[in-house]
Amino acid sequence: MTELQQQPLPLQGERALSATLWAPAKINFCLEVRGRRPDGYHELATVMMPLSLADRVALAQSDKLTVTCPGLDIPGGEENIALRAARRFFEAVGLPEGARITIKKQIPAEAGLGGGSADAAAVLRGLQALYGGPDDGALRDLAVGLGADVPFCLRGHPALCTGIGENLRCIPAPALALVLAKGPEGLSTPEVFGRYDGLSAGEREGILQKLVEEHPNLNNLKSKYAEFKQKTADETARDLFDGSTAELRGLLRNDLLAPALSLRPGVGTTLDALCAGEPLAVGMSGAGTACFAFCRDAAHAEAVRRQALAACPGLALCLCVSANPAPVDPFA
Ligand code: C5P
Repeated sequence: MTELQQQPLPLQGERALSATLWAPAKINFCLEVRGRRPDGYHELATVMMPLSLADRVALAQSDKLTVTCPGLDIPGGEENIALRAARRFFEAVGLPEGARITIKKQIPAEAGLGGGSADAAAVLRGLQALYGGPDDGALRDLAVGLGADVPFCLRGHPALCTGIGENLRCIPAPALALVLAKGPEGLSTPEVFGRYDGLSAGEREGILQKLVEEHPNLNNLKSKYAEFKQKTADETARDLFDGSTAELRGLLRNDLLAPALSLRPGVGTTLDALCAGEPLAVGMSGAGTACFAFCRDAAHAEAVRRQALAACPGLALCLCVSANPAPVDPFA
């Protein structure tokens, strides 16, 4: 498992010319859709956690604004959320646009791991360090305008998130040993929310029942932890807060799982592969297609990872990560 260490930010009164930050991915340990707003966004209650998997965002003062991702063909203009974050920042502080931003991507796209949101949050934090402002409140307002997950990424702490995901209640949560896995196919978040709206509650339930029936490893996990129900986001947050992670077993709740499966049945194969090594629980992150297995410890996670790859060699991603990685002592 990797550990994250930020480059120290400048001390008060000092102004940095460059900064390099980690931009950690997130997972949704539980995701409940509570309703649809008139603007098309959905009201959620979700427990999000930062991961040890992260992009690396380097920023330097410059007279031009550029965003590059070495080795990747990334969209320019408003489509690029990191560039949009930088533009909003300069507009808010009233300075001419100027920064050279280089993003080394590790977080896969179309995975539900918040890669773009993490980069946008790191750009806001990095520019704040380079240009000495604005304060955290103003930065949060910029984050809210950029996307539903950006405020969480800016905070970078386990949280129960409500509204469209922008209202955070931070919760202390232990470091968790996970295996993260993703098939070769991705999913677009708006498409998954659209499919959610098109399915009735009964249809969603039917898709989940079929998922368990058709996948033997998942079926085993379900039978093993038959007494555990799918918990709400409030209950999940409470269990983490109380340190009662033994309560989180089986298939963790994600209301977007049924629509994701109906668009990409391969998500079921990923979940089933993760169950081969008998983890404590499995779930899908965000709108998919990345899934995760919650394990007892790092050694158990390594065994689950190996068995997942043996069960499904076609996985595009299968690695051990930590949720809420323990903070690194910069003076150690
Ligand atoms: O805010 P963000 O750009 O990440 O959202 C992408 C899309 O996902 C939105 O345009 C919307 O279609 C959908 N979404 C939603 N409800 C949320 C978050 C996202 O419907 N709470």
